[in-house]
Amino acid sequence: MIKSPRGTRDLLPPDTALWNFVEAAVRDVFRAYNFHEIRTPIFESTELFARGVGEETDIVAKEMFTWEDRGRAESDKGQSLTLRPENTAGVVRAYIEHKLWDRGLSKLFYIGPQFRRERPQKGRYRQFYQIGAEVIGPATSGSESPARDAEVLELLATLLDRVGITDWTLELNSVGCPNDRAKFNEALRNALQPVVNKMCADCQRRAVTNPLRVFDCKVPEDQPIIETLPRISQFLDEPCRTDFEQVKEILKTVAVPYVLNDRLVRGLDYYQKTTFEFTHGALGAQNAILGGGRYDGLSEALGGPAAPGIGFAIGEDRLVLSLSESAESVVRKPDVYIAPLGAGMNREAARLARELRRHDLVVDLGDESFRLKKSFEAADKMGARYILIVGENEVKADAFALKHLASGEQVTVPRGDLPGRIGKSGTGL
Ligand code: HAM
Repeated sequence: MIKSPRGTRDLLPPDTALWNFVEAAVRDVFRAYNFHEIRTPIFESTELFARGVGEETDIVAKEMFTWEDRGRAESDKGQSLTLRPENTAGVVRAYIEHKLWDRGLSKLFYIGPQFRRERPQKGRYRQFYQIGAEVIGPATSGSESPARDAEVLELLATLLDRVGITDWTLELNSVGCPNDRAKFNEALRNALQPVVNKMCADCQRRAVTNPLRVFDCKVPEDQPIIETLPRISQFLDEPCRTDFEQVKEILKTVAVPYVLNDRLVRGLDYYQKTTFEFTHGALGAQNAILGGGRYDGLSEALGGPAAPGIGFAIGEDRLVLSLSESAESVVRKPDVYIAPLGAGMNREAARLARELRRHDLVVDLGDESFRLKKSFEAADKMGARYILIVGENEVKADAFALKHLASGEQVTVPRGDLPGRIGKSGTGL
């Protein structure tokens, strides 16, 4: 038997109804905040992630699905391509490629698959889905304002409430700007020097190349050492501190609760200033339902103009896992199951189904070869509200037997009255 590759999975009905419920709610929320959808390719040039996300990050160093293009054209040959492990780099690439700065502030969202070669476990997959958003533009468009950070965070609180997740914690930090980072890196290097030989090989390398990434280390033995390292919060300069204060003040005003966590440096190199994660208790070890932050230098790192930006990505798989709603409760069951009874009745059933579906009813139907009992069983199994019998007598009379499955009540309804009768919600006829 051929199975789906490790770390990937099939999403089947009725679970897909939950995914659609989430995506519809999310699109509504994005509309209210004036965000518009962007769709970028699911593979990009490898260099984009190396430069955007950072060579020393776990994502780029260990987790990417990368291959060399075998294209015949000279321009394709040997090009290194990668399935996107995240979408901020792709969106910023598109921002630069299409000169989106001409439009002022871009508020973009995306929904789609991402790929990381991680060890699969509950809530962690090799193909997973993100719902993300990026606010990016020239500084004159207000993209740099802490008000944008607060708007994005308030949007997220609204979005989670909207899909019925109330039990979340917003963890907030500022990782400073390049000025602060240089001082922080130096302090980290100094603090690491006497202890680094007791740490894992990754940390030993990172202590030299990119000390901030030491905080991503998951090795249990290294944690007591990491606990003692200096924190970025001690190194923020005045402008960073003031901006962070403003973010917090707006959050207080709009009543979005948060906790400060100055260990939160996030596993991607492009972050500056505000960073955040929303966690959820029900998720176990993989408890980050979403993460994001500001990436003011990313456009320039990718060869574009200055374009401050802030964004987030929700792990849609994890979001769906934390929903209290069940798939069954959001699936729209058929309003009516049409049972054609006897030869020639498939045609009549098809005509009725077409009429009823035009009235926005969910209609399913059987086959004229089915005995009535079989049709009832099928209607029951799919949870239809009504069964509509279409036999020769009914067609002649142009009135049909309509039975409410839960109550067992049955009436004869003229063709023209059917949509109104079936459309009426409630328990009986
Ligand atoms: P990230 O923290 O790497 O950030 O991923 C965001 C979210 O994607 C995580 O919080 C998690 O819910 C989900 N996620 C990540 N890896 C997996 C996985 N293997 N399986 C299931 N879910 C996963 C980013 O990707 C940034 N691009 C976010 C961002 C946008 N920052 C600014 N703008």
